[in-house]
Amino acid sequence: MGAHIVTVVAGRAGAGTSTIAANLAVTLARTGGGPVCLVDIDFTAGDIATMFDAEADDDGVPEAHVATRLGRGLYAILAPTVLGDPSRVPERIVSELIASLSTMYAHVVIDAPATINKHVVTALEYSHQQILVTTAERPALRALGRLHDTLDLLNHDHRLRTVVVTRAHPETGLPATDVERAARAPIAAWLPASPDIPVSINAGQPLATVAPDHPFCRPLRDLVP
Ligand SMILES: Nc1ncnc2c1ncn2[C@@H]1O[C@H](COP(=O)(O)OP(=O)(O)O)[C@@H](O)[C@H]1O
Ligand SMILES: [Mg+2]
Repeated sequence: MGAHIVTVVAGRAGAGTSTIAANLAVTLARTGGGPVCLVDIDFTAGDIATMFDAEADDDGVPEAHVATRLGRGLYAILAPTVLGDPSRVPERIVSELIASLSTMYAHVVIDAPATINKHVVTALEYSHQQILVTTAERPALRALGRLHDTLDLLNHDHRLRTVVVTRAHPETGLPATDVERAARAPIAAWLPASPDIPVSINAGQPLATVAPDHPFCRPLRDLVP
């Protein structure tokens, strides 16, 4: 038995990746399918600690046995960000983390930065599912196209990819069919733009912890098998 490993990543920063990773981890923990570990591999500017009002241990490299408890059935490996340069975190750290975590948890949700560095490549390599995040805007969709190209170059199977549109508005000037064509896949979920997201981030409590039936949170239940 091993964990279902999912990496959440976008073609460009600011799309809403960390928000989705955090709320997905909370949602999976709530559904009771076993313990969940949320892993922040943004070693430059990891946001997961702040999103849960938690404290990262900035002294060391992340280790599987020093997970932070975030809630019932929910743990996190927070990113030490004082290291500054992510390349100072040895390459093997992410593969070792995933190997250990997959024996300890039912789900491992990895929050990746938009820069595809060696840590992200490693996470993607070990993932059973790659959730690709975009907004319904042409620059983001173009960046998503480049991310698809990168994954193709790395020989990743298309079937591992799940495309999610976030910060969706009913009227963006781009018809859904155009978004799907640009996304090169059917859209697995359209997560709405909502002021409740920044409010929840400022409260240090992901929305799914307090409002699991919110239109942003509910579709997350069906993203992961
Ligand atoms: N669905 C949403 N509705 C409104 N604001 C959002 C939504 N998703 C993300 N945001 C905002 O966008 C910003 C970037 O989100 P974040 O998840 O940190 O992006 P990324 O990890 O892709 O850089 C955050 O400040 C957050 O408040
Ligand atoms: Mg992020």
